[in-house]
Amino acid sequence: MKSNGGSSFDNLALEFVRVTEVAAIAAAKWIGKGDGKAADKAAVDAMRTQFNTIDFKGEIVIGEGAKDESHELYIGEILGTGEDPVVDIAVDPLECTDSVANGLPNALTVIATGPKGSLYHAADSYMEKIAVGPDAKSVIDLDAPVADNIKKVAKALNKEVSEIIVATLDRERHSGLIAEARAIGARVRLFSDGDVAMALGTALSRSSVDILMGIGGSSEAVLAAAAMRCLGGELLCRWKPKDEKHIKRLNDAGVTDFSTIFKSSDLAKGDDISFTATGVVSGPLADGVLFTADEIVTHSVVMSTDPRTVRFIKTKHFM
Ligand code: FBP
Repeated sequence: MKSNGGSSFDNLALEFVRVTEVAAIAAAKWIGKGDGKAADKAAVDAMRTQFNTIDFKGEIVIGEGAKDESHELYIGEILGTGEDPVVDIAVDPLECTDSVANGLPNALTVIATGPKGSLYHAADSYMEKIAVGPDAKSVIDLDAPVADNIKKVAKALNKEVSEIIVATLDRERHSGLIAEARAIGARVRLFSDGDVAMALGTALSRSSVDILMGIGGSSEAVLAAAAMRCLGGELLCRWKPKDEKHIKRLNDAGVTDFSTIFKSSDLAKGDDISFTATGVVSGPLADGVLFTADEIVTHSVVMSTDPRTVRFIKTKHFM
């Protein structure tokens, strides 16, 4: 891999912004058309084609599924035109397919990378999560009651509990969490999809969310963990398989202990982590794709741990 100043992973992340941009533009053409699958396929095709123009060698560790389930961006697929070393790549070509189908917020195209072995190979299931920004990272505890976490985060952020905004996916499984948060006077922001953007919102001044709590996808946990490593916040999570099928899938992947609490540094290890995302529909991390008469505007975020940087990139694509 080439290095032009920053670490090779920092440079790669800047190359990958072209990948997330083309995927976001392809997916955005499907906003509001009620067809999430078509939007996802458009993002996958664009992402894969663009990846294969880049001089690197990457192996998908989190992608569209196993080889027999997916033709593109499958786990184990090798991407890029380069030679060894092979780097780990986690992708979500379209985080929030339903949001794109229905014109709702938080949709992103996402890539995280690190050296081989750095990204946790999370089988597809659910995880219980709590995420906060840098100022509250040392006070959260996945074993503590919801109220305790909120009170501790309020103290760490120098806020009243009544000012704290807890974001959680609008799902029946979160009814207890919502009731506990409201019982102590905290505010609850329900969202339909997109816990990657909401988790990262806790660490960004452009968002008013203070804590992300609840159960969401395991791939999304790894992607958010990679970004949290760059942002200096924290994401704690623990397996929460929803049924016997998920338990079997996890067991087959070698996961038998569902009590382990993972920190972001367990899911995205080491000092060479990068994260790149482009907004498809606006959310706390990035604004969505904007189509005008003669240009397309994309909004991306490129982050890395070495050097620790967070870049916001607005790109005009002239037609
Ligand atoms: P997809 O685009 O894969 O559907 O993910 C959207 C999402 O909202 C994630 O952000 C979240 O982690 C997950 O779905 C929650 O899963 P579920 O919709 O099954 O509750």
